[in-house]
Amino acid sequence: MRSKIVAGNWKMNKNLQETESLLAELSAKLPDTGAEVMVAPTFVNLTNAVRCLGASTIQVIAQNMHFADNGAFTGEISAEMLLNIKVDTVIIGHSERRAYFGETDEVLAKKVTAALTKNMRVMFCFGEELEDRKSGNHFNIVESQLRNALFSLDAKAWGNIILAYEPVWAIGTGETASPEQAQEMHAFIRKTIGDVYDVGIANNVSILYGGSVKPANAEEIFSKPDVDGGLIGGASLNADDFVAIIKAI
Ligand code: PGA
Repeated sequence: MRSKIVAGNWKMNKNLQETESLLAELSAKLPDTGAEVMVAPTFVNLTNAVRCLGASTIQVIAQNMHFADNGAFTGEISAEMLLNIKVDTVIIGHSERRAYFGETDEVLAKKVTAALTKNMRVMFCFGEELEDRKSGNHFNIVESQLRNALFSLDAKAWGNIILAYEPVWAIGTGETASPEQAQEMHAFIRKTIGDVYDVGIANNVSILYGGSVKPANAEEIFSKPDVDGGLIGGASLNADDFVAIIKAI
């Protein structure tokens, strides 16, 4: 179901005490916008994050998972383990996982399938590199990332998919796609899904924008018709900035 979503990807930041104090501050200041609000702390702090949020509407989500149910995969975390601690949404395909940890479309497709099989929601990230945009290849790249990881899924699986378009050149760089560039790509993504599946599915999927979203630019980006919210990195590490971005939705 298409909903407005603002999600904070904390990446490898915030120790236990910092996690608890940021969540306490966020809960206290959380505006009621009707949007879903999610935070993705590091794995070691997920259990405590869930506990300390209690009945808050803020959802705790994971930054990654492995596709296997269990077994000899040193350093990895399974869907079962996440569900067991009440984390039922997972980010898959973040550009940092692709770039630094060698996650290919093939691996990502397995992760997506594994998560969906367990009834988890998947926040699937994808986006082009700067050279792709400069050479005008960005639509092709995005289409192939979606095709390779998602277009073999059953139509009904799309009810548990959230998309996050994150142009790599805008992540952590301070450089943001213009609201027009974001809208143009989001409309392309929706049309592509409509062509491969149907317009109903395309219109029901939430498509978030990510890449240097800040309080100063959030409102303009979120005002675009095909932008359903944001995946926020750096600015989600500060409660006031994150709350300002939530208000912008
Ligand atoms: P950023 O990160 O907001 O710091 O650019 C976004 C992301 O990586 O999801």
